[in-house]
Amino acid sequence: MPRPKIFATRPLFDEARQILQEKCEVEYWAQPERISREELFRRVKDKQGLVCLLTERVDDGLLQGATKLRMVANVAVGFDNIDVPACTKRGVAVTNTPGVLDESTADFAWTLMMAVARRLGEGEALARSGNWKGWDLDQLVGTDVWGKALGLVGFGRIGRAMARRAGGFKMKVLYTDVQRAPEDVEKECNAEYRDFNTLLAESDFVSVHVPLSSDTQGLFEAAKFFRMKPTAFLINTSRGQVVDEAALVHALESKKIAGAALDVYENEPFIHPGLKRPNVVLAPHIASASLETRTKMSVIAAENVKAFFDGKRPPNVLNPEVIKTA
Ligand code: GLV
Repeated sequence: MPRPKIFATRPLFDEARQILQEKCEVEYWAQPERISREELFRRVKDKQGLVCLLTERVDDGLLQGATKLRMVANVAVGFDNIDVPACTKRGVAVTNTPGVLDESTADFAWTLMMAVARRLGEGEALARSGNWKGWDLDQLVGTDVWGKALGLVGFGRIGRAMARRAGGFKMKVLYTDVQRAPEDVEKECNAEYRDFNTLLAESDFVSVHVPLSSDTQGLFEAAKFFRMKPTAFLINTSRGQVVDEAALVHALESKKIAGAALDVYENEPFIHPGLKRPNVVLAPHIASASLETRTKMSVIAAENVKAFFDGKRPPNVLNPEVIKTA
């Protein structure tokens, strides 16, 4: 049997490369610049597998030209970059990397929350500028995190990891989701359910942890910011398109909310110029970017590829119907 040919849009990590090379013939995109869409089309033409990042769009147009493609492994938990129904229609299996990035992402959402509350971005800029004149009583006074109300929009694995962290800060934890969590989970996380509007009205920090879908796209539109406290902050580590950026900028300009801390944007890597203000902390989509987690994400993607070409059901397959009929 010839070894399946795989294309990976990044060199991945050694641990993942080792797994892939046991089974497959792998071609890696190792250029410093991102692969262009045209080049991606060319590279996948003769491949049976594709390992890609969330910055690569896998849609019917790509699939049309990739007639040999049988599986796509996304190195991310979010898979809004992949048209899964189109893949299913063409019998292409799709996998993602759930589970391994929950704690790192929650760590980072926490980092953003602390940074915006305590004005770390402004403080760091001042400390580096050479203009700092020393301690002063009212210098860069922010707001406390401990003891405040944390509102979690989305109470899946990452939302729950956020809730667990809140205990040490004596925070009141509220959550909203399409479905109420089981009682034992609420208890373990010390979290109380609220409908979306009530959560917005009661929270001091609103942290977003929903996947991007047609239901969540633009979830935070203008009216939602009116419901928030003028002293509240929005934290987003999910997907940029969950928040209407123009509406957020307007809410910040008109002081409907006190600030925001963002890791994700509507049109990455473009960042709305109206967000570049002192009361907004901006990060370049790095919530899962610890060496441990990014290595695990790469390994999981490689394990999914290996399982598929071993004729097994990949552990994180998103369209298992393709496996059954394969
Ligand atoms: C990162 O944003 C991911 O979806 O894994």
